[in-house]
Amino acid sequence: MKNSYIDLIKQSYQFPQNGFELQHDFLTFHGVSLHALIQKYGTPFRITYLPKIGEQVQKARRIFNNAISKNNYQGKYNYAYCTKCNHFFHVVKEALSHQVHLETSSPNDIDLVINLFKKGIFDKKKTILHNGFKTDGYISRIFELQSLGFENSIIILDSISELSRILKISTKFQIKIGIRMAINERVNAAYNTSRLGIRYEDIIDFVEKEIQGNERIDLKMLHFFVDSGIKDSIYYWGEFQKAIELYSEIKKIIPSIDSFNIGGGFPIQNHLGFQYDFESMAEKIIKNIINTCRFHNIKEPDLFSEFGQYTVGESGAIIFQVIEEKQQNDTELWYIIDNSLLNTIPDAWAMHEKFILLPINKWENGYQKVHIGGISCDHSDYYNSEDLNQEIHLPKMDDEKDPLYIGFFHTAAYQDAVSGYGGIKHCLVPSPKHIIIDKDASGNLIDFLYSDEQSTDDVLRILGY
Ligand SMILES: Cc1ncc(COP(=O)(O)O)c(C=O)c1O
Repeated sequence: MKNSYIDLIKQSYQFPQNGFELQHDFLTFHGVSLHALIQKYGTPFRITYLPKIGEQVQKARRIFNNAISKNNYQGKYNYAYCTKCNHFFHVVKEALSHQVHLETSSPNDIDLVINLFKKGIFDKKKTILHNGFKTDGYISRIFELQSLGFENSIIILDSISELSRILKISTKFQIKIGIRMAINERVNAAYNTSRLGIRYEDIIDFVEKEIQGNERIDLKMLHFFVDSGIKDSIYYWGEFQKAIELYSEIKKIIPSIDSFNIGGGFPIQNHLGFQYDFESMAEKIIKNIINTCRFHNIKEPDLFSEFGQYTVGESGAIIFQVIEEKQQNDTELWYIIDNSLLNTIPDAWAMHEKFILLPINKWENGYQKVHIGGISCDHSDYYNSEDLNQEIHLPKMDDEKDPLYIGFFHTAAYQDAVSGYGGIKHCLVPSPKHIIIDKDASGNLIDFLYSDEQSTDDVLRILGY
């Protein structure tokens, strides 16, 4: 039995794998030398590796299109990116370079779309799916988009009252709409039915009374989203089946409805042992739609997804230096890092979300069980278990002059939106640097600083000093 960290990893998982590899004893991420980035920029820093975004889009498109042609499905697959997951221009631009449609959730999102259009990155034929609560301001912004000539903007109704509010704000265009079906939550959830969307039991009545025969509106889509993710579980398929049955019933009333939207929910790798059969899930989705549509003798719909986390999550990482080792009792050893976990990966604290955690160096050293602590003074600013394991093991530190560096990987989804990019953070710990990594026209890796570590001036300015 060998006792180095690398032996532990190789005995526990397949390694190297999925963008993680050792080169000259240092970890690389998608071929990017993290050692070189540490030397060039210094920790702490977050990185966004843009090419991963396109790879994810292409993979989903490939597996859905394979399932479509293998099963002779009549509709088309459409990949929409939900901006709320990561709004950064460089991220949305990268996704758009792979011909995605967009999903919006607030009035500011509309300005984001218009900005992308003005920059020549988004065209007016693309589909824009408008989810979220429709305030009057949001509705007006959507109509503005339509008057600018965006032909495929679809307002997905989150409630019955939204329709009358939409119709009150006049527009000369016929309004394309979708209906979001509220899902029932899993057993033991804090509530039974999601507040998002229209009650399942009310939808047919609503369609018959308020949509059928109304020439101002064009019902295009049924939407549902199981926020716990697309999983091969009785619960997921139960909600899925309810939605596709509902679509079939609506199609008999409004034959022009032609799209079925499964929302987001494709997962990302959050531990090295992660396994998920994307191909078989896509095929099951396609086959279930076919079976239901054939039973009801209706044409299969165009399929939309709005994958957020799946699109961007695996493109991000955050790298820290361990700045102190603290033995707090006989069994508990802390590695204190040079920023805050609460501030940089808030889902770890708020949702008990796990991320892939790996050391950057010292893989040949022996390992020990540790807790990782941030430098804010909040007691919850720590991380001490992995998804498959109740413990964290990291290499032993051996030389003060040669520190240990660690990284949390696949962190690009939602963390900045939840934490607030820049801004005021717990204990005024500054937001770390942000480095973008891309490939140039010849395929060589390039990196540049997108934003420096937050300055004291910036912090004091926000606070009114
Ligand atoms: C309506 C809607 N679609 C898609 C998504 C994206 O979900 P995910 O990131 O799990 O793919 C969300 C996330 O909140 C959502 O609310």
